[in-house]
Amino acid sequence: MKSIKLLGPFVVAIVAAPAVVGCSSDDDSNSGGMSPSAYERLGGHAGLLKFVKGEVEDKILKDSDLKTYFFNQVASPIPAGHPSAAQIEECFTRLVASAVKAEQYPGAPVRDAANTNTPDFTCRDMKSSHVGLNIGDKTFDKFVGILAADLMPLVVPDGTKLTAGHISQSEFNVLASALTGTKSAITTQGAPPGPGPFTPPAPSAYERLGKHEGLLAFVKGEVENKILKDTNLKTYFFNQVKSPIPAGHPSAAQIEECFTRLVASVVGAETYPGAPVNDAANTNTPNFTCRNMKASHAGLKIGDKTFDAFLNILATDLMPLVVADGKTPGAGQITQSEFNALASALTDTKSDITDPSAPSGPAPFPGG
Ligand code: HEM
Repeated sequence: MKSIKLLGPFVVAIVAAPAVVGCSSDDDSNSGGMSPSAYERLGGHAGLLKFVKGEVEDKILKDSDLKTYFFNQVASPIPAGHPSAAQIEECFTRLVASAVKAEQYPGAPVRDAANTNTPDFTCRDMKSSHVGLNIGDKTFDKFVGILAADLMPLVVPDGTKLTAGHISQSEFNVLASALTGTKSAITTQGAPPGPGPFTPPAPSAYERLGKHEGLLAFVKGEVENKILKDTNLKTYFFNQVKSPIPAGHPSAAQIEECFTRLVASVVGAETYPGAPVNDAANTNTPNFTCRNMKASHAGLKIGDKTFDAFLNILATDLMPLVVADGKTPGAGQITQSEFNALASALTDTKSDITDPSAPSGPAPFPGG
C-alpha cells in the first residue's frame, strides 16, 4: 500500500497518473462499464464548492497569517475589481475542477450582488489575482498544506475500489501538482518567505522615482537645463530649433516623453514606443510615434565620446539618488544595482546611436 507523505507543508510522490477525466475505467465492475470520475465522486461542482467553502471560511480565513492577505474582502465596500470571498470560492472551485478537466477556467463572470462594486466578477489568472499581495514561499506552502491536509483523508491507494467521497493516490497527485504548479505565479520574488502575515511590497524604483510624472520631470530637467545648454550636444538638436520642425521629427517635448518611456520600459513599468505622443506645437508632426534608437539617431553622426558626454550628464545627476545595495531606498532614491541596470540599458544603446565613421568627439554636429 502506497503511503501519502505529508512532510512539512506538502510533499507528495508524484506518480505518473492518468488524466482524471469524465469517467475512469479502472473499475469495470460497475454496471455500465465506466465508474464515476474523481469529479463525480467529490460531488461535482456543488461538492467541490462545499469543500472549498469549508477550507476558505473555516481554515484559511481563520489562520492568523493567511487571513491578513484578504484585506480587500473585509473592506466595505470591497474595492472595485476585487472579488468577494464567495466569488473567490467559486473561482477556486472552477480552477480545481479544471485541473481534472471537468470545468472551464475562468468561465462566465461570477455573480455576487453583495459585492456592490464588482457584482459580476471574472476570475483572473493566478498572477493577476495575487499581484501586490507579496506572498512568500513558505506562506504559499502553508496555504497549500492546509488544503492537502484536508484532502488526505479522502485518499485511497491506487488499485483500491473508488467510492463516493474518495480519490486515488494518483488523482490526489494530479490535484496536488495542479496546486503546487501555481507557486511561481502566486508568490512574489523578494517577499519575506514566511509563513507570515501580509506585508506591503516595498515600492519599486519606478514608484520611488515618482512614476511617469517624476521620471518625465527628471528627463525634462536633463534635456532643457543640461543637454540643450551643452555647447556640443545642443548642436545636434537642429531640427528642434527650426520653425516649423521638419515633418517626421519630434519636438523637444516629444523627445522628453519618448525618453521617459524608454527609461520606464527598462524597469518594466511602461512599454516603448507606446501610443503616439501629442504636441500640437509641432505642426508638421503633432502625433509623433517614438522610434527605435537607430532610426531616431540616423544621420546625426554622433561619435563615441559625444555619446559618453551625453550619458555622463545623466549619470552625474542620477548618482546623488543612489544608496548602497542592502540599504532600504526611500522616495526619490535607487539602489546601486538599480542604477547599474539603468546605466547598462542606456550604454547598451551606444552601437545603435553612434556612427563609427564620425569623429569620436566630444564634438558638435556634424562631428567637429
Ligand atoms: C495553490 C494556491 C492558490 C490558489 C490555487 C489560489 C487561487 C485563487 C483564486 C482562484 C482566486 C480568485 C480569482 C481571482 O481573484 O481572480 C484567488 C484570489 C485570492 N487569493 Fe489565492 N490562491 C492560492 C494561494 C493563495 C495564497 C497563498 C494566498 C495568501 C497567502 C492567497 C490569497 C488570495 C487573495 C487575497 C485573493 C483575492 C485577491 C483580491 O482581493 O483581488 N491565495 N486565489
